[in-house]
Amino acid sequence: MPQPPVIDATLATALVADATTAPSLHNAQPWRFRYVTRTATLELYADRRRSVPHVDPLERALHLGCGAALFTLRVAAAHAGLAAEVRLLPGPDAESGLSDAGRDEAPLARVTLTAPPDPLTTPDPLAALYPAIRRRHTSRQPFDDTPVPPDIREALREAAAQEGATLLFPSPWHVQHLLNVIRDAEWSDAEDEGRLADLDEWTHTGPDADSAADGIPEYAFGPRKRSGGAPVRDFAGRHHPAAEQDSVAFESQPQLALLGTPEDRAIDWLRAGQATQRVLLLATASGLATALTSQALEHEDLRWAVRDPQSAMGQVQLVLRLGYGPAGTSTPRRRVSEVLSIE
Ligand SMILES: Cc1cc2nc3c(=O)[nH]c(=O)nc-3n(C[C@H](O)[C@H](O)[C@H](O)COP(=O)(O)O)c2cc1C
Repeated sequence: MPQPPVIDATLATALVADATTAPSLHNAQPWRFRYVTRTATLELYADRRRSVPHVDPLERALHLGCGAALFTLRVAAAHAGLAAEVRLLPGPDAESGLSDAGRDEAPLARVTLTAPPDPLTTPDPLAALYPAIRRRHTSRQPFDDTPVPPDIREALREAAAQEGATLLFPSPWHVQHLLNVIRDAEWSDAEDEGRLADLDEWTHTGPDADSAADGIPEYAFGPRKRSGGAPVRDFAGRHHPAAEQDSVAFESQPQLALLGTPEDRAIDWLRAGQATQRVLLLATASGLATALTSQALEHEDLRWAVRDPQSAMGQVQLVLRLGYGPAGTSTPRRRVSEVLSIE
């Protein structure tokens, strides 16, 4: 039995700092972590004060974001030479007892960190994704029309499969259909007071944009779309000053991918979140710009229409936009001391 390595507060803090670079809906960062030094276990909890109630009433997106943070943590652990054994939805740990913060709920995941028994074992391939962690940002810029080569598409499909998800590149016909469905969602959102209130809460303009530790700052909204089919959420809305900025043409044939899972339970959402981040990091490492779009999936009456009728994909969890273009902008994260407790 390998002994748990001594992972001190500094290393636990560094791992969590990496994990929190993950994407989350509206950059709400709906996670917190607890490190139990004695057992070298890191637990991931949902921070439900950071749910986005109108857009994400079932907390699907919350789980997707937490899954993405979990995958990033696994990459950081691999980079640090640690093996990470992950249990999803493990239930409360009666033996170690929960901290005040965690007493009321069970973790979403428990990660046990160990040093590999033989230091000469082949390095975990996830470590290769580490440099992409801090290079990956959502890009809301126009991409050019260069197609993503077949070998990269295949590697991205394989990355999703490794995490128990399916990545599908829809046919041109299906992309057009998807864009119509997303447009329906955009129109519906523009009239929905609750969803607009969520957007107001998580977007920051003016001096706020430079000081907030979460949400989407104005400088990451991207330019306003003049033409093109790319689905880019309009964070600026109709009334923000940013709406006045110059509009630009986006790609007419966006390269979209659907990421899905066979079922639609909390555990599937966590798997899908991990798969999404694995795909995003590999895409970043392969020189692609990436973005996510979930608007159509946030409407139960539109979500079913996103599925490819000819594929066996069960539930679509996210739509990715991939291509060659400007990298996205780095957005703020809360300090690790706010999201990590160490015992
Ligand atoms: C479940 C989920 C849904 C998202 N939906 C959208 C979206 O519809 N439009 C968009 O521009 N970004 C979307 N994002 C990306 C987030 O806005 C982004 O991750 C966050 O603002 C942090 O920025 P970063 O990805 O550049 O680190 C989504 C992210 C997640 C995890």
